Amino acid sequence: MESLLERIEAARRAIAATQSADVLEQQRVALLGKNGLLTAALKELGALPDEQRKQRGAQLNALKAGISTMLDERRGALERAATQGRLAREAVDISLPGRGAALGSLHPVVETMDRICAIFERMGYRREEGPEIEDDWHNFEALNFPPHHPARAMHDTFYFAGGELLRTHTSPVQIRAMQGRQPPLRIIAPGRVYRSDSDQTHSPMFHQVEGLMVAEGISFADLKGTLEAFVTAFFGRSFEMRFRPSYFPFTEPSAEVDIRWLDAAGTARWLEVLGCGMVHPAVLQNVGIDAERYTGFAFGLGVERFAMLRYGVDDLRAFFENDVRFLAQFG
Ligand code: FA5
Ligand code: MG
Repeated sequence: MESLLERIEAARRAIAATQSADVLEQQRVALLGKNGLLTAALKELGALPDEQRKQRGAQLNALKAGISTMLDERRGALERAATQGRLAREAVDISLPGRGAALGSLHPVVETMDRICAIFERMGYRREEGPEIEDDWHNFEALNFPPHHPARAMHDTFYFAGGELLRTHTSPVQIRAMQGRQPPLRIIAPGRVYRSDSDQTHSPMFHQVEGLMVAEGISFADLKGTLEAFVTAFFGRSFEMRFRPSYFPFTEPSAEVDIRWLDAAGTARWLEVLGCGMVHPAVLQNVGIDAERYTGFAFGLGVERFAMLRYGVDDLRAFFENDVRFLAQFG
């Protein structure tokens, strides 16, 4: 009995110091398992005389209960420590600065188009939109391009099998805006247009902003003044511009406007940025407006061209390659 008590006392000290659930299980088996120390001692009880067996039995059972409680407590303590450890390891420091989500930004062409429209809206123009898939009448015929007119050839039109087409300019929105309405009217119409055309300053899909003003007594001087005020507002300074006589079937007289810029080598160059003119009387008649009483001007701006000048980009195709390193500069 002396040596059994000593061995149990040693086992208690070992259990108190145990750091792992596996070792604790081995200790349980060594004491209470089928061949454990206490189990063996209990088995020996049967060989003892009655009186001694009672006393010793009570003593062994008390020891067994004490050991069981101790093992349970130690297991509970180890489990709590493990949980605490995991919580500490997985703790999130909510006071640390966040990683920050990358913010996207508007495409420079969209940004430029919005800027153009905002300037005209401040001058009292109303924003209008038209479909990108147009019919021949709105894109050409009503704009005074008779069938087989040579000016149609300049538009490199994409046609659909049914005779519809991808609009080649925003000018059909002039027709849609004037149909069923009477002057005075002032509209601005941004949007995509399409032509089978591609080089450093031409893209098969590009953007235009159409402007139209119709009222009594509108003259070419109004058109010039409006465009000069716009260019100054757009670039924040005056730019050298020239009105070059041109031809459009839907305006008379017609002009194209070029803006002077310096290329990387410092050489002065002219870039065509828009077409414009006085609305042709035949166009007003096509939409039921009295051409004797009213006159008007119209213009069609090339949005990418304005973006090129504003951001100093000398190849318009860069706007459509969607290289994030290029686009991120405009954020
Ligand atoms: C027209 O499209 C006329 N509708 C403009 C107009 C409107 C005239 C109202 C009179 C009254 P034009 O084809 O020149 O005209 O194009 C107008 C502008 O769009 C050009 O000055 C240029 O800045 C731009 N542009 C033309 N083709 C392309 C292209 N392929 N890629 C990028 N920009 C282009
Ligand atoms: Mg042109």
